[in-house]
Amino acid sequence: MPLRICHQEFRLLRDFVEQESGVSLGEDKAYLIENRLSKLAAESGCKTFGEFYLRLTASPLYDKLRASVIDAITTHETLWFRDRLPFKILEEQILPEFHKEIRAGKRGTVKIWSAACATGQEPYSIAMAALDFYIKNGYTETACCRQTQILATDISAGTLSFATAGKYDDNTISRGLPRFYLERYFQKTGNEWVLDDRIKNMVTFRLFNLKDPASGIIGPFDIIFLRNVIIYFSETFKKTLLSRIARILNPGGYLFVGTGETVGGYSDAFSLLEVEGTVFYRLKN
Ligand SMILES: C[S@@+](CC[C@H](N)C(=O)[O-])C[C@H]1O[C@@H](n2cnc3c(N)ncnc32)[C@H](O)[C@@H]1O
Repeated sequence: MPLRICHQEFRLLRDFVEQESGVSLGEDKAYLIENRLSKLAAESGCKTFGEFYLRLTASPLYDKLRASVIDAITTHETLWFRDRLPFKILEEQILPEFHKEIRAGKRGTVKIWSAACATGQEPYSIAMAALDFYIKNGYTETACCRQTQILATDISAGTLSFATAGKYDDNTISRGLPRFYLERYFQKTGNEWVLDDRIKNMVTFRLFNLKDPASGIIGPFDIIFLRNVIIYFSETFKKTLLSRIARILNPGGYLFVGTGETVGGYSDAFSLLEVEGTVFYRLKN
């Protein structure tokens, strides 16, 4: 049975969540705090959300508790090859373009950032699409691994440890993974599908909060997947984040956001591109 939250408690916790993660909870989201944080509050020995807020902001366990709150309050919904087209565009349009530059000696690598990677399906889908491009064009897996660097980050330590393990149940596998990739890159062990090291080793996972300035810490990148995350942020933070994203994209770099998300109105640093109804962006020179 969830704890009930009063308006004042809601405002305190809502502001805390926004300050820590950028996630902006509207006035109608009190139920979300009740549903997602009641268990944590109870486990911390708190009888009200007011008590829990004080514990959260004052206790010496602040960091651990704060991380658990952010883990619980953020939405980690994801699937393999989500919306399909971004991965097709990556494989058939963007990687061939960058690979041409590699062959011409103008660059050594392609650097890709999955900026809110949740349980790993997005960066692993990127890795599979990249490997497909190399194999279909007669290049080796070794060349793909050497030339494609994929950094995957998330604010949630819980989802990152899941992603790093690369083990998924039937239900997770059934969500968007083409049979071909299942047969090629997974092995069934007990109830789990274990991802092949060839794909796992192409992705580096790291804890990173998009609230923190990325410049000088990570990047620069040639391609950024910032998908299905800015939808949770306030208008002000979207502007700040997209101007930071523009600074850590290399000239001519590409940006994918989620279907239903847009850069329009938040940043004019990008040109809009479209393939088969899928919109993506390129940094203006
Ligand atoms: C809905 S999932 C999207 C996963 C994937 N990008 C996709 O499109 O399927 C949103 C992810 O954003 C992460 N997230 C939320 N706020 C964040 C922040 N401030 N910094 C980094 N990651 C954040 C959440 O932990 C969650 O895993």
